[in-house]
Amino acid sequence: SKNMDLKEKKILITAGPTREPIDPVRYITNHSSGKMGYALAAQAQSRGAEVMLVSGPTSLEVPKGIEYYPVTTAKEMYNKVMELYRSAHIIIKAAAVADYSPNEISNQKIKKNSSEISLSLRKNSDIAYELGKVKENRILIGFAAETENLINNAKTKILKKNLDFIVANDLTQEGAGFRGDTNIVKIINKSGNTISLPKMSKEEVANTILDEAIKIL
Ligand code: PMT
Repeated sequence: SKNMDLKEKKILITAGPTREPIDPVRYITNHSSGKMGYALAAQAQSRGAEVMLVSGPTSLEVPKGIEYYPVTTAKEMYNKVMELYRSAHIIIKAAAVADYSPNEISNQKIKKNSSEISLSLRKNSDIAYELGKVKENRILIGFAAETENLINNAKTKILKKNLDFIVANDLTQEGAGFRGDTNIVKIINKSGNTISLPKMSKEEVANTILDEAIKIL
């Protein structure tokens, strides 16, 4: 899709993991590399869109010509997205946001004095859910990374977060989900219609997601 079918459209994309500090040397994170979100940003840009990319820490090169907003924690990602979403026509939440963060961040490195310690965590705001409440006519696309009940869990997320559609990765499949250059996804819309895609490069998956977004623009 090398046409400029996203010209004059503004797209907000989130990508990568978040990092939740425990103490000055440790943090909680997940396996997201950012590749899926960066592929969306690069493909949207090449199709003429104005792209805002809010990204957690990754080792990827930032695609040329996009507005880049690096963040670290789920809270920072929430704040940046809430600051930017109003000008977007399409919002794609490819980031793997930490669901929980440490209740307290220790100022000092935690010492190994006890044989057992526990970490108290509190739930982070769900960015997609908050966007779902204020989206109006913007298109809101989520991802779901699942290890079981892929379709049902994804459908629940569409309704709960008021998404237009969700891109569900089955993490149990080889070549799907975190880190690799390929993905295997199902695109499920509000009415439950499902497109099952074969293993594709993350660029090809990105273009298919953008094709589906354009259909409902
Ligand atoms: O980065 P890669 O290595 O290329 O891997 C790609 C990916 C697997 C990270 C990506 O394709 C993906 O599935 N991203 C979403 C992972 C995830 O956090 O899924 P979830 O089922 O926990 O969350 C569902 C949706 O709610 C997601 O759109 C997520 O961005 C959003 N969410 C979740 C929690 C939270 N506090 N705020 C959110 O907005």
